[in-house]
Amino acid sequence: MRDSLVRRRAFAASIATIVLVLAACQGGGDDDASGGADAGNYPEGPITIVVPFAAGGPTDTVTRLIAEPMAAELGVEIVVQNVEGAGGTVAADQVANAEADGYTVLMHHIGMSTAPTLYPDLAYDPLEDFEMIGLVTEVPMTFIGSPEFEPSTMEELIAYVEANLDTVTYANAGVGAASQLCGLLFETATGLDLTEVPYDGTGPAMDDLLGNQVDFMCDQTTNTAERILGDEVKAYAVTTPERIEALPDVPTTEEAGLADLQVTVWHGLYVPAGTPQGAIDALNAALKIALVEEGVITRMGELGTAPVPEDRATPEAHREQLEAQIELWRPIIEEAGVVAS
Ligand code: MLT
Repeated sequence: MRDSLVRRRAFAASIATIVLVLAACQGGGDDDASGGADAGNYPEGPITIVVPFAAGGPTDTVTRLIAEPMAAELGVEIVVQNVEGAGGTVAADQVANAEADGYTVLMHHIGMSTAPTLYPDLAYDPLEDFEMIGLVTEVPMTFIGSPEFEPSTMEELIAYVEANLDTVTYANAGVGAASQLCGLLFETATGLDLTEVPYDGTGPAMDDLLGNQVDFMCDQTTNTAERILGDEVKAYAVTTPERIEALPDVPTTEEAGLADLQVTVWHGLYVPAGTPQGAIDALNAALKIALVEEGVITRMGELGTAPVPEDRATPEAHREQLEAQIELWRPIIEEAGVVAS
């Protein structure tokens, strides 16, 4: 009896020890504000930023631009990983299901707010399955044509598309992409039904447009500005209320008679829900430093955009933006009757 009592106590003590060790591994035992384990000495190794579109495109360009100063601030390597497909939803789903430890980050844009309406069976909830790190930039879009495409103005483009509906091709980066949303707004504004050619990103779409394989597209200035300034493509209009500094000769959609066709592509960083608050704070602090870095400001300016002001580079402002944009685009997309098939 006695022996068994001693053995049982010893066994109980060892169980208690195991629980404690496990708790210690959990970093002091208390869950932090985000409900995740404490971040401890975050970061302790490389961080991956997942880009939902092909390398060389506008979202990849913005990501690689801020990744460098963020890595310098965090003191670790940042790896940019391109995960293409389904207009960005494949990458978002991958990150939603990644370890919530701060080492997997998603860069996404306006597509995060259109996906819930475009994909009725979307595998993730943009508001529930992610923590926001902060907004990054809001990029204007431009309508451009291939070098050999006949139209030279937005007005000529609309007339030409109307007259050649069956043959004109419009490139985009899939359902859920900014280029797809802009195409949808063009169809809504003109009443014309486009023949869309989907790519894994507007980086590869640009290659085909330069090669006259597709006729026109609407894409972010971070991918078009230098092509326009180099006269490599035809430029029809920019989707902002005012002309932009980098492209003073490109008229606005309003000047071209399409006042309702206005859109800018906001970008933000996300981590899986449950990521430790300490990691979120460190990523946000590094983002803020990157957005005031001289080289980032200059380069974004050359590409027709700018970092968001500091008060928008916050998790709170980012979440407000996402909530508002989901509500803004839902009725517009439903009215257009576009659903991913
Ligand atoms: C890209 O990086 O390829 C773009 O963001 C795609 C898009 O949304 O049009």
